[in-house]
Amino acid sequence: MKFFVDTADIDAIRELHELNLVDGVTTNPSLIKKSGRDIFEVTKEICELVDGPVSAEVIALDYDAMIAEGRKLAEIADNVVIKLPLTLDGLRACKTLSGEGHRINVTLCFSANQALLAAKAGASYISPFIGRLDDINLDGIDLIEDIRTIYDNYGYETEVLAASIRTVNHITECAKIGADVITAPPAVIRAMASHVLTDKGLDAFVKDAKDAGIRIV
Ligand code: E4P
Repeated sequence: MKFFVDTADIDAIRELHELNLVDGVTTNPSLIKKSGRDIFEVTKEICELVDGPVSAEVIALDYDAMIAEGRKLAEIADNVVIKLPLTLDGLRACKTLSGEGHRINVTLCFSANQALLAAKAGASYISPFIGRLDDINLDGIDLIEDIRTIYDNYGYETEVLAASIRTVNHITECAKIGADVITAPPAVIRAMASHVLTDKGLDAFVKDAKDAGIRIV
C-alpha cells in the first residue's frame, strides 16, 4: 500500500520523508490556503523533495479553464498529478488531459458510480472521501470496498486513493480492503506508530533497566 501525505506543509512532509513514509503528496486549495504560500512555489518545493506523484488541484469549474489550469500546473514538475473535481466538466477534462499523457487524480468522489465514470475517463487515481461521508452518517469505508470490487470486476487500472482519512482505523480498513493508496494528514500517519501498550511496556523496560543498572554502550 502506498502512503501519500495530505498536506502542503513542507516541514511535515520532510519529517515523514526522512522516515521513508512518503510515496506521494496530495494538496487541495484548502491545504494551500492553510500553508499560507503561493501554489506554484509550494508545489515546486514539494516536487523537488518527493520523487513520487504530487497532486495539485485546479480551481476552475468549466472545461476550458480546467484544461488551461491543468496544463499550467503540469509545467511545475514531471511528478505533478493534475487534480480535477468529479463533475461532468472535470471528467471531460480528465479524458483530454490524460490523452495528452498527464496523470489525473479525480477528487471529491462520494459514490461508486462517480468512481466508475472516473475510470472510464482515464483517471490515474480516484479519490473517494471517507471522512466526509462518515460526517453525514454514511459509511466511507463501504465506498472504498464497492469501488475496489467494481474496478477489479472490469480490470480498471485507476488506483483507489482513499482520501479524507481522519483516523488510524480508516487506514487499517483501507489496507484490509486493498485500497492502492491512502492519503492522510501527517498526524494520522505519525499516530500509526503509537500504541498505549507500547508506551506502557517501554516505561517498564526503562525503569527496570535503570534499577538493574543495565548499560549497553
Ligand atoms: C484529498 O485529496 C483531500 O485533499 C483530502 O483527503 C480531504 O480531506 P478532508 O475531508 O479531511 O478535508
